This record gives sequence, C-alpha cells and structure tokens, in this order.
Amino acid sequence: MDKENIIKKTKDFVQEHHQHDYSGHDWSHIMRVTYIAKSISYHEGGNPFVVEIAALMHDVPDEKLGSSEAEGLEKVDHFLKKNGVEDRIIRDIHHILSTMSFKGGNREPMNTLEGEIVQDADRLDAIGAIGIARAFAYSGAKGQPIYDPNLSPRDHMTYEEYRYGKSTAINHFYEKLLKLKDGMNTKYGKKLAEERHQFMVKYLEQFFAEQGM
Ligand code: ADP
Ligand code: NI
Repeated sequence: MDKENIIKKTKDFVQEHHQHDYSGHDWSHIMRVTYIAKSISYHEGGNPFVVEIAALMHDVPDEKLGSSEAEGLEKVDHFLKKNGVEDRIIRDIHHILSTMSFKGGNREPMNTLEGEIVQDADRLDAIGAIGIARAFAYSGAKGQPIYDPNLSPRDHMTYEEYRYGKSTAINHFYEKLLKLKDGMNTKYGKKLAEERHQFMVKYLEQFFAEQGM
C-alpha cells in the first residue's frame, strides 16, 4: 500500500479510537498535534512519514483511553504490520510512542529526531490558549476544582501522585504546563512554545487579579 493510503487508513483507525474522549484527547487534539508536528518537521527535518504516523498514533497507547499502554502499543504494531508498513519503520514508531508520555517527568529522554518533533507538538498542544482550554476540560472530566487556595501545587511527584493525587486545574499550570517550555527539544518548537508560554503567564495574572489576591 502506498504511504498516502496508509496515512488515510491510520486517520480512520485513530479517529475511531478517540471518539468517546472528553478529557482533552479527542480527535481534534490528534489533528492539531499532527499538523504542528508536520510544520516542525518542515523546519527541522526527520522522516515525514514516521513523524505523521507517530503523531496520529501518539495517544493510542494512553491508558486513559481504555486499554493499557502495552495493549495500545500492540494494537498500533498490529495495525501497521497488517497495512504493509516495513518492520524498521514499525520499530521506530513503537520506540517513539513508548518513550512519549510525560508521566510526572520520570521518563527517559526522547532520542530520535522524529520522536523529539512529535513530543514537541504534543507539548505545544498542552500550552497556550488551547492548553488552557484542555486543562479545564480535563479537570471537569475528572471532577477536579478550578482553583482551591488551600491546595498548593506539588513538586517531584511519583507517577501515582501525578495521575491520581488531589489537585486543581490552576495547580496543573504550576505542576506541569509552565515547565513544558524549558523541555522543548527542537529550535522551532522552542520558538512556538515561548509565545504560548507568555500567553499562559498573562492568563494566570488576570486569573489571580480577578480573585482579588
Ligand atoms: P501526559 O500523559 O503526557 O502527561 P496527559 O495525557 O495527562 O499528559 O494530558 C492531557 C491533557 O490533559 C493536557 O492538556 C494536560 O495539561 C491535561 N491534564 C492532564 N492532567 C491534568 C490535571 N491533573 N489537571 C488538569 N489538566 C490535566
Ligand atoms: Ni497527546
């Protein structure tokens, strides 16, 4: 099968996988990440096919969408194999997806250019105006408050604390979103992150000004 057709089939597969998500991992997140990843790749290089498939598939192994990470990875490998993607490319994509998630910051660093690009694109979609919207959508979906002055932001969390501990949408900016800018991998990604970061800083200033504190 030619590459264009594989990409089209991958889009159908991923759209179906994400259809019941309301926690910020919906199909529009995947489309934005894929678009940003392609534009970073345009500036920074990398194999465009690997970048696009990895961006489209990047949240399939996320356990928040149902199955475990291992089952999700297996599903991706199986789908790509069935559609005639070379083993070498499947291995590259598998490596990217298994290294990708932030998980409270405790993962090994990404070590391929394509992986760095997709990771930057995912991080860019977590900051700026869209990142703000997603943090509140996620909090609403999980029953977390918008803000609670008695709950301080946490540092150095274990994965369990990050995922299941008690927090607020506003704390999430301090626990994760404001840190993302400094972890960007690519030059072009850094440039895009800077602008989105400044927008969040301004947003938080306004938020606290309206709290009267
Ligand atoms: P990762 O798995 O890469 O750490 P997530 O999948 O948890 O990231 O994040 C998906 C989206 O949901 C992001 O935009 C993120 O900011 C938001 N999010 C994740 N955890 C929280 C949280 N505890 N409070 C508010 N938003 C969150
Ligand atoms: Ni994502």
